Amino acid sequence: MLPTRVTLVEVGPRDGLQNEAQPVDAAHKIELVQRLQAAGCRAIEVTSYVSPRWVPQMADNAEVMAGIVRAPGLRCSVLVPNLKGLESALARPAIRPDEIVVFGAASEAFSRRNINCSIAESVERFAPVVAAAHAAGLKVRAAISCALGCPYQGEVGADAVEQVVRLMKSIGVDHCGIADTIGVGTPRRVQAVMERALAHFPLAEVSGHFHDTYGQALANVHACLEMGVHSFDASVAGLGGCPYARGATGNLASEDLVFMLDGMGIETGIDLDRLVDAGAWISGLLGRAPASRAARALLAGRQATVGA
Ligand code: HMG
Ligand code: MG
Repeated sequence: MLPTRVTLVEVGPRDGLQNEAQPVDAAHKIELVQRLQAAGCRAIEVTSYVSPRWVPQMADNAEVMAGIVRAPGLRCSVLVPNLKGLESALARPAIRPDEIVVFGAASEAFSRRNINCSIAESVERFAPVVAAAHAAGLKVRAAISCALGCPYQGEVGADAVEQVVRLMKSIGVDHCGIADTIGVGTPRRVQAVMERALAHFPLAEVSGHFHDTYGQALANVHACLEMGVHSFDASVAGLGGCPYARGATGNLASEDLVFMLDGMGIETGIDLDRLVDAGAWISGLLGRAPASRAARALLAGRQATVGA
């Protein structure tokens, strides 16, 4: 039986905007989060506390966190690579997130390029971050990037992914996210990797993060739904990619995911029309059309209605 409800973790403000070459004002990032909340999003990855030299677009993390007005029930998460990041995230009550995301990789090459250390070193570095986050009452999600392939080293096997899953489990993370950073996964391979995550984490604490580079993202979500997995990251308007994964075009667009789930009678709590509005707004600000196919079709439909 497929799940009846899915949690969509909206990662546009972080994973989406981190990759923008043009500066985006903190005020616009805040407005995007507000618009996403108005559409019903209740799990939003807002920003990251990483080095501003590595990812300049996220340098306004504290300003954005301070500016958002949180709807009741909002689960607000931020990426944190080390203790310095966690200290900044917890510096003031007004900017405190509900959860943090530590992000490792299943590929050594990507780990070095993205966070400047080996996989083993990264997990050692995350261990005190996880402990301190728990002590502060925060939930900790782990993201495992390049779980289906790596832009630098090519193939990544399920054994390599499971090794990182085990390491993340050993340091006490609460949740394991499997990320196809360059979008090369196909449904059966995704299921094989998900099985490795599910061998160590309960169904409710495993999620999928798919990029649509090769048009496989929704098929991969469906493959996960068949296994009962019911939490997925997605990015409004298909924004983003990773600055350290060249050619990794957008994340799975939230509008495409909600359109599919609505059509399958699977609840998300998100209003597709308002989500399309939020995607059209941020895309307009960035000077392009939303990458979401569903959003484009719905927007074209609205225009046709207005013109009729
Ligand atoms: P490093 O250069 O090895 O760090 O970077 P360091 O500890 O040697 O420190 C160097 C300088 O950075 C020092 O400053 C530190 O204070 C500063 P200086 O004394 O030279 O002026 N620094 C920091 N500043 C602010 N916040 C911090 C912080 N830490 C150190 N937290 C580091 C190592 C991990 C910091 C760096 O590599 C980094 O920030 N990487 C982040 C890269 C990133 O954000 N990538 C994108 C997110 S991952 C992703 O998108 C994939 C995912 O979405 C899944 C998917 O899409 O598939 C998760
Ligand atoms: Mg991504």
